[in-house]
Amino acid sequence: MNQRREHRWPRPLEGRRARIWYGGDYNPDQWPEEVWDEDVRLMVKAGVNLVSVGIFSWAKIEPREDMYDFGWLDRIIDKLGKAGIAVDLASATASPPMWLTQAHPEVLWKDYRGDVCQPGARQHWRPTSPVFCEYALKLCRAMAEHYKDNPYVVAWHVGNEYGCHNRFDYSEDAERAFQDWCEERYGTIEAVNDAWGTAFWAQHLNDFSEIVPPRFIGDGNFMNPGKLLDFKRFSSDALKSFYVAERDALAEITPEKPLTTNFMVSAGGSVLDYDDWGGEVDFVSNDHYFIPGEAHLDELAFSASLVDGISRKDPWFLMEHSTSAVNWRPINYRKEPGQLVRDSLAHVAMGADAVCYFQWRQSRSGAEKFHSAMLPHAGEDSQTFRDVCELGRDLGTLADEGLLGTKLAKSSVAIVFDYESEWASEHTATPTQNVHHVDEPLAWFRALADVGVTADVVPIRSNWDEYDVAILPSVYILSEENTRRVRDYVANGGKLIATYYTGISDERDHVWLGGYPGSIRDVVGV
Ligand code: GLA
Ligand code: GLA
Repeated sequence: MNQRREHRWPRPLEGRRARIWYGGDYNPDQWPEEVWDEDVRLMVKAGVNLVSVGIFSWAKIEPREDMYDFGWLDRIIDKLGKAGIAVDLASATASPPMWLTQAHPEVLWKDYRGDVCQPGARQHWRPTSPVFCEYALKLCRAMAEHYKDNPYVVAWHVGNEYGCHNRFDYSEDAERAFQDWCEERYGTIEAVNDAWGTAFWAQHLNDFSEIVPPRFIGDGNFMNPGKLLDFKRFSSDALKSFYVAERDALAEITPEKPLTTNFMVSAGGSVLDYDDWGGEVDFVSNDHYFIPGEAHLDELAFSASLVDGISRKDPWFLMEHSTSAVNWRPINYRKEPGQLVRDSLAHVAMGADAVCYFQWRQSRSGAEKFHSAMLPHAGEDSQTFRDVCELGRDLGTLADEGLLGTKLAKSSVAIVFDYESEWASEHTATPTQNVHHVDEPLAWFRALADVGVTADVVPIRSNWDEYDVAILPSVYILSEENTRRVRDYVANGGKLIATYYTGISDERDHVWLGGYPGSIRDVVGV
């Protein structure tokens, strides 16, 4: 099992009591400074005590190479801090400025057909680019040097939603890094040949230099599954290495400030192996956007439970959710009256000790101007802002009642969640494209909730074998090690529920032979 970082939580500002952190992303750089005093006044009115600042501010902090402008950021952080509002400060590296990508177009990522992702949105960089890494780390160090003694900065927000837009990069840098990754994982090219089953369709490799990322292959159905699964692992690891480099650059200068990066754990979100990443942060933080419809609350509780599992039951930080509609679905439904408060408190009930939104003030321009916020276009005299104030009071009461720092009680039932099974079951050359690992744990969570059992959603690397009942819902990949854990669990009296499509393949996505489910056929008595 991985060595995980020790849990460290952002400390309250000097002279303030520890509270549930409450606030959101704050982008003062999108507004004239005259607006800032009103922002701070309304934050205080709403009970906001923390905001995340600077996430997309690289171009304003370093307007030209090596020319830094911290003046505006100093002024707003000072205003916030003096009003009792702590700052979760970004590394500011999520969206590189135009001067950088014009000077170094080789940092832009490429899609699987070789098309270059151009500037125009955000996260248009390759995680494996040494050039980009150098610029990003330089900014991290400049930020850390400048803010190391700032008492109002209580945490670092490293990057933003890694892999949201640049999960898969097929560039030359990615190719080289993928070759290195394969060499590190397998040692010899023969082991790669074996893992990927390259005897099939003349895919044999003579050397690591013959490994290419899974680029366009014509008919998309037939990519080598072992290679594709490894590319997903590699892509999670490549972004993780980049994050770790940024984290360490900050931590070296400000060792006392806890760090996090916001994950995207939700029923549809398996962009990275967040359980693996969970060991690399000081406190786990998550962004969760409600899925409209009948399963809204169940999905929320399910995802929150998985976050709690990734955090190993230490309190976690809800870094983003929405007060109402998002603006990135085909139709963006608002929340019904009362749902703002209910949803946020549901996260708290599932282990969150911080409730934050994207974002504080709704943008007037830019790609997210129709995304809801704490302070909507309508302003202070609005139902949303009244609800935001009500929630601020509720969170204060919960902290007074002693909720802060408590851990979620352990259930007697574990639902096992496995990112690699989801990645493998996404392959399209399977018995049916209608079965994905990711859907099954949620279905079990809901069914159990209906009979009054709140199960824990537990990552496969974690302690699912310490529960009375463990459910393996379409855990398609069972490695040798996990097969042994299942066997030991049952031998020691654990009650196992294994559903269809569990234990079909090993970690190389080689089918376990001898009849399905080959890895645990004897255990389940088929
Ligand atoms: C075609 C091909 C075979 C095999 C089958 C599978 O017929 O020629 O190699 O892929 O499809 O249905
Ligand atoms: C993500 C991002 C935010 C914002 C929201 C909108 O969570 O991190 O910057 O774009 O989505 O829903």
